[in-house]
This record gives sequence, C-alpha cells and structure tokens, in this order.
Amino acid sequence: MLQFRAGLAEMPVYDVTERDWKIKINANESSLNLPPLVEERVLSRLSSIAFNRYPNDEGDQLREQIASSLHLKKENVCLGNGSSEIIEKICYAFGGSGHTIVYPEPSFSMYRIYVEMAGAEGIAVPTRKDYRGDVKKFVSTVQERKASLAIICNPNNPTGNFLPLHDVAYLAHHLDCAFLVDEAYIEFGGSSAVSLMKHFPNVIVARTFSKAFGLASARVGYMLAAPEVVQMVSRVYMPYHLNVLSLVTADIVYQMRDEYAPRIAMTISERQRLEEQLKELPGLTVYPSRTNFLLVKCDCAAALNEALAAQGIGVRCFGEAPGLANCLRISIGSREENDIWFKSVKDFMEGRS
Ligand SMILES: Cc1ncc(COP(=O)(O)O)c(C=O)c1O
Repeated sequence: MLQFRAGLAEMPVYDVTERDWKIKINANESSLNLPPLVEERVLSRLSSIAFNRYPNDEGDQLREQIASSLHLKKENVCLGNGSSEIIEKICYAFGGSGHTIVYPEPSFSMYRIYVEMAGAEGIAVPTRKDYRGDVKKFVSTVQERKASLAIICNPNNPTGNFLPLHDVAYLAHHLDCAFLVDEAYIEFGGSSAVSLMKHFPNVIVARTFSKAFGLASARVGYMLAAPEVVQMVSRVYMPYHLNVLSLVTADIVYQMRDEYAPRIAMTISERQRLEEQLKELPGLTVYPSRTNFLLVKCDCAAALNEALAAQGIGVRCFGEAPGLANCLRISIGSREENDIWFKSVKDFMEGRS
C-alpha cells in the first residue's frame, strides 16, 4: 500500500506538456538564443569545468557579481534553480502548519501550489476588475489573517500590469510579515523594489535569468534579501543544489548583460507596437503590459486559441482560471513571428478564418 502525503493527489498540477509549435509564444521565454559573443564565452568556459567535482565557489562568484551590481553584499543574495526554486523555498521557510501566505489573484498560478506544498494556508486576494492591485484590501487581508508571508508579482504575470513603487513601499511599510516581490519580468518595465530593501528588512526580491536573459533551459534565479533571511532560506536547500554548468553560464550572462540591452529594447518596442495594433481589432480587449507578453480578452478566446493552434501557433489559454475567463496570454516573439501571429489574430477577429 503506497501511503502518499495527505493532499498530494488533490494538488493542482502545472501542465508543462508541449507541442512542437511553429511559433511558441506560450511561456514568456525569449525568442532568441544566447547572443553570439556570450555563446562563445560560455562554450569556452564549459570546456574547463571539473565535471568530477561538486560545485565549489562558482555560486559565490555569481552572488558577488549580482550583489555588487545592485550595491548590496554577497550575504544579501541567494541563488536557486530558477526563481521557481526560490519561491518554493521561501514558502517553505515561512510556511508550515498554522501559517498563512497571502498572494493576489490572478497572478502566477504556481504561488498557490508552492503554498500548499509548504503545508501553509493560502489566501488569494482578488485584484480589481481591470487587474490593478488593491493594496488596502491586500494589507487588511494580511493583517486579519496574521500572515507570515505576502507575495506579489511586479510586473504581474499573467496580467502584465505593474504596481507603482509608492504602492509597493506602502505594502512594505504596512505588512508586518515577510514580503516577497517576484520581479521575473522587471527588465521589461516597472520599478524594482530593491531600493526599498534598506528601509524595509521584510522585503525579499526574486528574479530570474529565464526571461530577459533567455536562459530558461539553465534554470537560474536569485533572491535578494536581508542576510538573516538569506541564511534561514538557505537552510531549506539541499547541498550543491545548483549545478556548475548553469552557474558558470549564468555568471557569464550576467557579466555580459549589456549584450542583452538591444533585444530587451526590441521586445519592449514590439510589445508597444502590438498593443496598439491589437487595440484596433473589433471585440478584443488588450491590457497594458510592462512585461514580455500581452494579455488579451475576447468572448471567443477558446475558438481563437484553437484557430491559432491549428496554424502551429502556441499561446497560453487560461480556460476558467479565476479572473481570467476568456483570456489569452501571448508572449512577444521576434518581429517576424509577431507579424505572423498578429495576422492570424486579425484574420480570426475580422471573420476571415
Ligand atoms: C511571475 C513568475 N515568477 C517566477 C517564474 C519562474 O521562472 P523561473 O523558474 O524560470 O525562474 C515565472 C515563470 O514563468 C513567472 O512568470
């Protein structure tokens, strides 16, 4: 008799099955692989790895580098297998039975799963109808529930909008608990909460190499927090949790991050162009975005999703997810890919397909 952990079978599953899409714009990845100069450096560095050894100081080098670029100390930085592992471990560190974790909805669907995995109670605070965050309601929920951790995603996935820094500061000031700001998309817009860390030691920032730096395959993310938080969260990692291949790759990518500036600028200008073009289409609402994707809503979202899929275009359809009925999320691809998917959306909305 297999005695699995209580509640495991009922846990929601994050489906990562993929089709071989012609245009893959469903996971907010970068459409571009490593910039050529970065690839050259990475490949040369990989050839000198001691594959027989456990990781040594490669993580410390990356932590130093991230810290000094943000005027922080190495002790403020903790690395993870993507920001996914960071968020999971933060939920674990502040979770457990009798603890409550509060997050907005709609937002990154994995928060609920990590909270449940951490054995904590999860409370979702609905955003306003137009997806703007309701900071007063958020604070009162955290206070009433005596939460141990509050999470926001800024800019928010999947709605694309952002909370201005003064609102994030208001939250940091009024939340009497750990406050995680997930900045997975910060390179594409919005204002970072890093500047708040020196005034509010409860602020924790999570970031990733998977989006703007196009390193989703390597699974590297980082957390910025007070040294005490870094020390406590570090306790819940297994030893050597990050592999050297990913560490040295991320180290070079971070050193050469200026190489990414043109592609980030391209993504932002493409996002603006597509937002304008989508606004012109009948029956479609497009939400303002500071990320590398756009959220659109239309009565025929499911049919549009199917029509795009039939053409090999993979977007994210949210089905009946709370607050996201009739919504599709479309990642910004290359200019050529964007022209193709936009034409398909336009043809569908104007009744030509
Ligand atoms: C808001 C948000 N946070 C965190 C993640 C996790 O990213 P990763 O684990 O690749 O760093 C994602 C991925 O889509 C995301 O959208």
